Amino acid sequence: MNYKNILSEINNSIATITINRPTKLNALNIETIQELHDAFKTSNQDKNIKVIIITGSGEKAFVAGADISEFSDFDIEEGQELAAKGQELLFNLIENLSTPVIAAVNGFALGGGLELAMACHFRIASDNAKMGLPEVSLGVIPGYGGTQRLPQLVGKGRAMEMILTAGMIDANQALNYGLVNHVTTQEELLPLCEKIAGKITRNSSVAIGAAIKAINANYKDGVNGFDVEIEQFGNCFGTEDFAEGTSAFLEKRKADFPGE
Ligand code: COA
Repeated sequence: MNYKNILSEINNSIATITINRPTKLNALNIETIQELHDAFKTSNQDKNIKVIIITGSGEKAFVAGADISEFSDFDIEEGQELAAKGQELLFNLIENLSTPVIAAVNGFALGGGLELAMACHFRIASDNAKMGLPEVSLGVIPGYGGTQRLPQLVGKGRAMEMILTAGMIDANQALNYGLVNHVTTQEELLPLCEKIAGKITRNSSVAIGAAIKAINANYKDGVNGFDVEIEQFGNCFGTEDFAEGTSAFLEKRKADFPGE
């Protein structure tokens, strides 16, 4: 598919999606959100893609936020619609995808950019990365899930401080907070993401999708995560991947998962 604002490539069962508006520090306009929606949906349906990495183009930014120029004259209803549509189209879509998504945070991840990284299944940052939710400095609050996912990831007190001060933290502080899993150099960022993605690709993609569902259940209102785990665990026993994985172990050979 041809996109205006994103690039997409596939290597070794890993799709890399790059947000490509470097002159706007990859700010998320509505068109980019729609294109990302399409790219994530298509990648998730492609059985040859086992992991998705998302990053920003250029050396400066992952994503410097939602595109401020697009919503500066919105009224209350338009503001609500912007948040609701964005959450549904992209942020909730990524979080609930059965294909794992790694955010390669290669620079500024601010506002909607940090919210995008937080919707991913985990994050790896380069040492120049700066992260924050500066929305209150603009007279607004995070609207793409930031008030919910930041406390889930770093705890309520740290999230309160980050959101209320509108400040930025650097990559090492983000590592210390557990907001990112690893920090490396800019040059090593994609290779490290690919190395970790490579480990994921060797496992059962069906079991991985079930694990994501069970882990996410812990964060859904009115859902008992232990019950979801029991259901997903049981479902695995009916899959070809389970038959292959257990046979391969007993036969002392490497599993070749059919992905079903
Ligand atoms: N929305 C729209 N455009 C943005 C943007 C955003 N969130 N972030 C950056 N840009 C644009 C700038 O307007 C500028 O465009 P121009 O060259 O046409 O004027 C271009 O990207 C480069 O940004 P600039 O501010 O000149 O770079 P900088 O190195 O001086 O500062 C930042 C970098 C990230 C500190 C600064 O761009 C910034 O504060 N951005 C907004 C962050 C924000 O509040 N995000 C939350 C939005 S809800």
